[in-house]
Amino acid sequence: MKLMLVAPELDAYAVSKSEPTSDLLKELVEVTERDTAMPIMLTGPLEGRFLKMMAQLTNAKRILEIGMFTGYSALSMAEGMPDDGELITCDLDPTCIAIARKFYARSPHGKKIVLMEGPALESLKKIKGPFDMAFIDADKPNYTNYYEAVLPMMRQGGLILIDNVLYSGRVVAPDCENSKAIAELNDRIAKDERVDRVLLPLRDGVFMVRKR
Ligand SMILES: C[S@@+](CC[C@H](N)C(=O)[O-])C[C@H]1O[C@@H](n2cnc3c(N)ncnc32)[C@H](O)[C@@H]1O
Repeated sequence: MKLMLVAPELDAYAVSKSEPTSDLLKELVEVTERDTAMPIMLTGPLEGRFLKMMAQLTNAKRILEIGMFTGYSALSMAEGMPDDGELITCDLDPTCIAIARKFYARSPHGKKIVLMEGPALESLKKIKGPFDMAFIDADKPNYTNYYEAVLPMMRQGGLILIDNVLYSGRVVAPDCENSKAIAELNDRIAKDERVDRVLLPLRDGVFMVRKR
């Protein structure tokens, strides 16, 4: 599956002109490529720097993430948070959780991260807002459920970022369960008067949604 909508050389150029990532994040990419079946799920350096920047711009003290994988996006966002910030992240995969925990323990930002293990829809019932920022990046058929559960937990002006909303371009003519689910959510957000919204063609598409 291709997750980049821009030419690889342009992506590499954009990465080279953006803030460099830490050695720890570079090592996390190596470990994820070596020890997981789907390293393509990593948000990677460009989107990771974008997430950090969004955490900084929103002055985020509380962030909610749905879909942690091996912790790359969580550590990237945590870098942009103050020392007393809290990032709650949800995942259910034991292999990914074990890798993430090891890297959180070695990162100066790991203490900001609280990991909720299990199906995210169950974890969400136990989580209380308000949040300044949220990042939705888990199973696509549940995207609308996640959006509707997360929106009430956002503070006014809070920012929800939703990943893979272009789904390698397949949202234009949805032809599988995932692309249909994402297209349905995109249509819902496009008409949602509760939010300001802009869909960015960054990497595989990121919806920026601000609660009014
Ligand atoms: C695309 S990856 C997340 C990538 C991550 N944000 C990053 O930057 O590395 C999606 C993650 O969602 C998790 N996931 C899938 N279904 C889930 C569910 N129902 N509840 C919680 N996590 C789920 C998977 O285990 C996987 O780690």
